[in-house]
Amino acid sequence: MSATFPFAVARTRSELASELNKLRELGQTVALVPTMGSLHDGHLSLIDWARSVCDETVVSIFVNRLQFSVGEDFDVYPRDLERDLERAAARGARLVFAPSEAVIYPAGEPRVHVDPGDMGSKLCGGFRPGHFRGVLTVVAKLLGLVRPDVAVFGRKDFQQCVLMRNMAEDLDQGVRIEIAPLVRETEGLAISSRNLYLSRQEREDALGISRGLFEAERLFRGGERRVTLLLNAIGAVVAAHPGLCLQYVACVNPDTLDLVEHADAGSVVAIAAFSGRTRLIDNVVLGDDASDRFADGSTIDESRG
Ligand code: PAJ
Repeated sequence: MSATFPFAVARTRSELASELNKLRELGQTVALVPTMGSLHDGHLSLIDWARSVCDETVVSIFVNRLQFSVGEDFDVYPRDLERDLERAAARGARLVFAPSEAVIYPAGEPRVHVDPGDMGSKLCGGFRPGHFRGVLTVVAKLLGLVRPDVAVFGRKDFQQCVLMRNMAEDLDQGVRIEIAPLVRETEGLAISSRNLYLSRQEREDALGISRGLFEAERLFRGGERRVTLLLNAIGAVVAAHPGLCLQYVACVNPDTLDLVEHADAGSVVAIAAFSGRTRLIDNVVLGDDASDRFADGSTIDESRG
């Protein structure tokens, strides 16, 4: 397969269609990894995941204006296509779809959008109105263009994953949504394209986010189930990092995103906080250490010693 079809880049709909046809003619299964580029180890882990579940992997790179509000970082969002192509190819992606805005939105703002429903206004949705509507709309379009068997998302964006599953199921999109583990830097910070915005001090402050989550998880493993106490413990860790400004922290049922008072294994603690002007998100699945990975391949337990 690899020898037959070298790595390719499609910038237009027709280039995409012709590359996909080559794969389909051989009966290859295709996984799509949607991204906004600036590919880091978190994104690359999704390519690994995709390759483990399908024959060929398509990575899309598109900074989607529709999911940014006025005043957010659309204009300064990091973009480096040449480097992204190298990284995607080296990781074994078969095809990168890197369309322009005119290719994705030829008539400007689409007439039809995907409404994420009530679960889209919880957690991050409460602070970023319209964000998930923009996310689901572009992903619906990418799914329509690529028609993959599987689409892979990272648990780093936990609410996005849940809404993606809802969309695929409720709209019968005929795609299997797979959720890959969250990848962290060695010190614990969840890897994000936006980490590039952080100064040295802001990065140090940002560590309060994962430290807080790990503390909650430690308490949970010690038998604590009262959510108020788990969240207070996170609050205390965050408060010890003065540059960090908490936007929300919540413990939710992973299927409904409803707040829970009593934590169970599988409950998700999700957090959003600003380090300086940079908004960062993170989460842990309580009682499920194995669900996080460090960029060096270790798990939370191993890395804590
Ligand atoms: P982006 O932020 O580029 O992320 C692309 C994919 O990479 C998402 O599924 C995200 O959850 C995953 N990802 C990012 N950081 C990760 C980490 N540290 N560990 C594991 N996975 C990680 O999410 C988007 O783009 C956009 O909203 C998109 C879905 C592409 C729609 O525009």
